[in-house]
Amino acid sequence: MRYQYHPLGFEGSRIAQGFWRLQEWNMTSADTLSFIEDCLDLGVTTFDHADIYGGYQCESLFGEALKQKPALRDKMEIVTKCGILLPSESRPDIQVHRYDYRAEHILASVDQSLANLQCEYIDTLLLHRPSPLMDADEIAQAFDLLFTLGKVKHFGVSNFTTRQFDLLQSRLDAPLIINQVELSPLALQHFEDGTLDHAQQHAVTPMAWSPFAGGDLFSGVSDKAKRVQAVLAEIAQEKNCTVDQAVIAWLLRHPAGICPVMGSGKIARLATAVEAMSIQLSDDDWFRVWIASQGQPVP
Ligand SMILES: NC(=O)c1ccc[n+]([C@@H]2O[C@H](COP(=O)([O-])OP(=O)(O)OC[C@H]3O[C@@H](n4cnc5c(N)ncnc54)[C@H](OP(=O)(O)O)[C@@H]3O)[C@@H](O)[C@H]2O)c1
Repeated sequence: MRYQYHPLGFEGSRIAQGFWRLQEWNMTSADTLSFIEDCLDLGVTTFDHADIYGGYQCESLFGEALKQKPALRDKMEIVTKCGILLPSESRPDIQVHRYDYRAEHILASVDQSLANLQCEYIDTLLLHRPSPLMDADEIAQAFDLLFTLGKVKHFGVSNFTTRQFDLLQSRLDAPLIINQVELSPLALQHFEDGTLDHAQQHAVTPMAWSPFAGGDLFSGVSDKAKRVQAVLAEIAQEKNCTVDQAVIAWLLRHPAGICPVMGSGKIARLATAVEAMSIQLSDDDWFRVWIASQGQPVP
């Protein structure tokens, strides 16, 4: 394979904007374009997609907006994903919600994503979720062809264990540069299962999906959510910041270099998150959140 080696992992913005919920935002194409421009103005240049978002509609909504100002394409990094088959109105051919990592599917999915996004290349393609049936050699062949054809510049994965990551990596000449996993004060699993240690060891960028636990950090009613909300509110008051800024600062404090993928379509929320890059949490504050989430002191 003839990839350019990227020893420092993913070269995108530290905070990314996700478009999973784009359809729910009920934006016109002009609104979406304006949102994209506002993101870029804030320095948020990395945009996270997947083929299946919005029942296979979100990439197209983004592409329709981008078509109005194609010059914006080279000012951003587009991440998109493939591999989940989701029965939906727009895909009546899909009968079973499952995964597909045959080379034929990966190649067809990328072609469809490029058509939807109305652009010539994808910056980073992620395999969306691991499949028991994935064949690393076949995936490597598909990646090689996509790179050679100039359709995809870099590759990564999402929701992969470190073992699954290493298996795929063992068949590739170039490094996988992203593992996108769920990380938030309410989702500590990947802080403890080796994912973030592995990311640091191999200079893989851990992207955090649902950094606000899908909104549960504000409105969740479980005992755990309430404990974490209370501590975050205290820290926000002490630091003279907002709760969302305390969450972003908490994620950024981790040495693995977590890149949060924001999920709101409200640009003010993104601006608030960007401001949080200058907030330093003490280790005491970091562990107060950790302990509240665990519901018990550290051993
Ligand atoms: N790889 C994967 O498997 C995977 C899975 C899920 C998501 N993702 C990616 O991660 C991105 C983010 O996920 P997400 O949307 O779940 O992120 P999130 O930021 O955890 O949740 C977004 C939700 O939180 C609410 N929210 C945000 N700020 C708030 C505030 N200050 N007060 C009250 N509510 C607030 C939003 O409401 P408003 O709309 O009102 O702002 C929205 O409903 C997605 O767009 C997608 O790109 C990837």
